[in-house]
Amino acid sequence: MASNVSPNRVAELTKSMEESLRIRTRKSGEFVEEAKQVLPGGVASSFQEHSPHPIYIVEGHGSKVTDLDGNEYSDFHNGFGVMVVGHAHPVIAAAITEAASKGTHFAAPNASAVRVAKELSRRFQLPKVRFSNSGTEATLDAIRLSRAFTGKDTLVKIEGSYHGHHDAVMVSVHPDPSKMGPRAHPVSVPQSAGIPQALLDLTVVVPFNDPDALDATLTANQDIGTMILEPIMLNIGVVPPNDGYLEAVREITRKHGVVLIFDEVKTGATVAAGGAVEKYGVVPDLVALAKATGGGTPIGSVLGTEEIMAQIDDGTVAQIGTFNGNPLTMAAAEAALIGVLDEAAYRRLDQAGRRVLEGCQDVCDRYGLPAYAVGVASKGCVMFAHQRVVDYRSYVEYFDDDLNYLGWLYHMVNGIYMTPGADEQWTLSVVHGDDEIDHYVEVFEEFARDVTGGKGE
Ligand SMILES: Cc1ncc(COP(=O)(O)O)c(C=O)c1O
Repeated sequence: MASNVSPNRVAELTKSMEESLRIRTRKSGEFVEEAKQVLPGGVASSFQEHSPHPIYIVEGHGSKVTDLDGNEYSDFHNGFGVMVVGHAHPVIAAAITEAASKGTHFAAPNASAVRVAKELSRRFQLPKVRFSNSGTEATLDAIRLSRAFTGKDTLVKIEGSYHGHHDAVMVSVHPDPSKMGPRAHPVSVPQSAGIPQALLDLTVVVPFNDPDALDATLTANQDIGTMILEPIMLNIGVVPPNDGYLEAVREITRKHGVVLIFDEVKTGATVAAGGAVEKYGVVPDLVALAKATGGGTPIGSVLGTEEIMAQIDDGTVAQIGTFNGNPLTMAAAEAALIGVLDEAAYRRLDQAGRRVLEGCQDVCDRYGLPAYAVGVASKGCVMFAHQRVVDYRSYVEYFDDDLNYLGWLYHMVNGIYMTPGADEQWTLSVVHGDDEIDHYVEVFEEFARDVTGGKGE
């Protein structure tokens, strides 16, 4: 921690801000006790647990959400990056209402799914699409397609990346540093109990932003047929690829006959219309999508080349699911992708993203905070790190969780619903106004002033 930020000061401020948040969200704090009687942790997903206690949201409109105590917040969390369209968008709400009035589920094909598939195919430059209901299913389908195509069971993933909660990828997501092993040969560390050793053995781990380590791993391990990676690491804050890294990964995987999967569950439809594929101009063999592509409904999809996806056509690979292509989901996705997220929407996200990043970076500079602002379009965060984070190990070494948590408390107490967790980032929506972005920066400045004792000159 830099000298102008004392750990004692951070601890004191954290105590008082936690208390303020507890008082503001008293009803949530009480309700969680009732919820715990039926839901472990009082929540539906462990990602919804956080200190000082989970906060229950009752409604959202546009860029705002309201909690159980009636507090209104500007929503920078946006449902872990799903709500880039904003809440209850009239175009999407109307599409869902109309679809609901005609029947919510048939498990039979519908024309809307074809229109959504065409739009995703256009955006991500891959010809064939199949739907599912979550990012977990999307990466599961992509890995199965790849394993079937190459005939090889072993896959390589990036240390510190999250790709959903199925066994093949719940490996070295946020490994305990004492278990990581050497950088050149990271240990495959299970992220949860209940993952069979036989599956761990099939998942090899490499560092992000290191093409040489990837090449060496693929050379040494001819059993690897699949590589899955998030083109921008978005589960340790925001860690963009170094210049040329994605191109190098494309070249190296091709050289070794390894199928390349981009996990664009977070980047898809948020960093550009065509996600990282469009942003960086690198087209993998398969893309996994979910989150923002569904306009606020549960969606997943896998996109792939003709050759790989032909395995579904001929029945070699099972890609199935009762709710795949559900009419409500397809109506919402179509309305979001075609009705809301047009070129002007992406221009706005770029502009809004630049505004909040520039504002936060200026605060970091003026107060000498050991932190920097980083992001791409709607996605961004302040990395509470005194040096640039380029991969999981530098994140572990440089990132200050305590400072990050205190920054989060300042936002929460001041009416900004920011994503909980050191590993997360904000997602702006197309309906966030400049005034809300400026308010985010103002609160960040208040935090910087209090924590450094500086004047920001
Ligand atoms: C990069 C990435 N892949 C996959 C997933 C899993 O998506 P889901 O939670 O919809 O299963 C997530 C979830 O946050 C993610 O961030």
